[in-house]
Amino acid sequence: MPDNKTFSGAAGERMYDTKGKLIQAHGGQIQKFTVNGTKRWYWIGEDKTDGYRPCGGIHMYSSSDLFQLKDEGVILRTMDTIEDFMLPYFKQTYGDLDRIEQERLFVDLDRQNCVIERPKIIYNKKTGKYVIWFHADGRCSGSEGDYGKAKAGVAIADSPTGNFRFLGSYKLNYHNDPTADYGFDGWENRGSVRDMNLFLDKDDTAYIIYSSEGNRTTYISKLNDAYTALAAERDTAREGIDFTRNFIGAYKEAHAMFHYKNKYYLIQSGCTGWSPNPASYAVADCPMGPWKEMGDPCPDVGKETTYDSQSACVIPVEEENGIYVYMGDRWNEQDLADSRYVWLPIQFLPDSRIALPRMENWTFN
Ligand code: GAL
Repeated sequence: MPDNKTFSGAAGERMYDTKGKLIQAHGGQIQKFTVNGTKRWYWIGEDKTDGYRPCGGIHMYSSSDLFQLKDEGVILRTMDTIEDFMLPYFKQTYGDLDRIEQERLFVDLDRQNCVIERPKIIYNKKTGKYVIWFHADGRCSGSEGDYGKAKAGVAIADSPTGNFRFLGSYKLNYHNDPTADYGFDGWENRGSVRDMNLFLDKDDTAYIIYSSEGNRTTYISKLNDAYTALAAERDTAREGIDFTRNFIGAYKEAHAMFHYKNKYYLIQSGCTGWSPNPASYAVADCPMGPWKEMGDPCPDVGKETTYDSQSACVIPVEEENGIYVYMGDRWNEQDLADSRYVWLPIQFLPDSRIALPRMENWTFN
């Protein structure tokens, strides 16, 4: 971005912060918050400075214009050992936790074993807290794989730049039928969460969107008033009211939901790990659906890989003027730290259709 007006788009040029350091905010989300009277953009994402591991935690950048990106640092920190709870930063953030509490939290913050992916943040007007949810995974006792834990982690802070206090990780809603097909998770691992995102509706209801049942099915669950847990107890939640199951058996992930002119849109990818695949999108009248499948939003050459990207979020740049930007990750499996970001404008077409044109070096004009 040489001139602070141009997005490299499908070219996926490296992006740097105002100090010239590579942006580390993968699987991220960008939105505006007003903090102490000042409106700014906040970009949250995965810190992959050290590649896949040690896990770098959650990084934040802020900006007045989406181009000059100020490093706000790692806002949710991981640890080398459980003794790190004694360090000043963790003491300040977590206070004096007893050993049992430390052990509970350490499972998800242990740099050498944890996986922290697709962090998303929303602001709760009532509590005045910023709430982060992320895909909390990684090796843990009884599960040697990186994606066997399959939970959602929650953290809160008074400011979008932290320090975020991690509260815990949880399984979420599940379809209450032990004979159903739960994919590779099986009934034992019901309520599993892998790729996820959040959506905050105009009426202040918040939703978590996540791949479950071994990634077969997309769940959309209502969060409670504080946005720190599910709205309804996991074991008594009502399917169709407290949560919905969508695109059953269709294996979708990389969920990116947004709202435009009375319609809700959901862009997703297929499930092929770090390798890109074609995107799909759906439209609904409510965040929990029912969703109408609309096909592939990409019209141009390279659509079979979403122009070598996987959806992370859609940035509502100017909702009133219909300016929305798709942000995707161009994962580099060989060098995850150098994974790129692909920003493309969303085109709104008749009949609630959208298109993601392949564009390079584009501007808002
Ligand atoms: C993708 C997912 C990424 C990451 C990756 C690991 O399917 O979207 O967030 O988990 O798999 O292989």
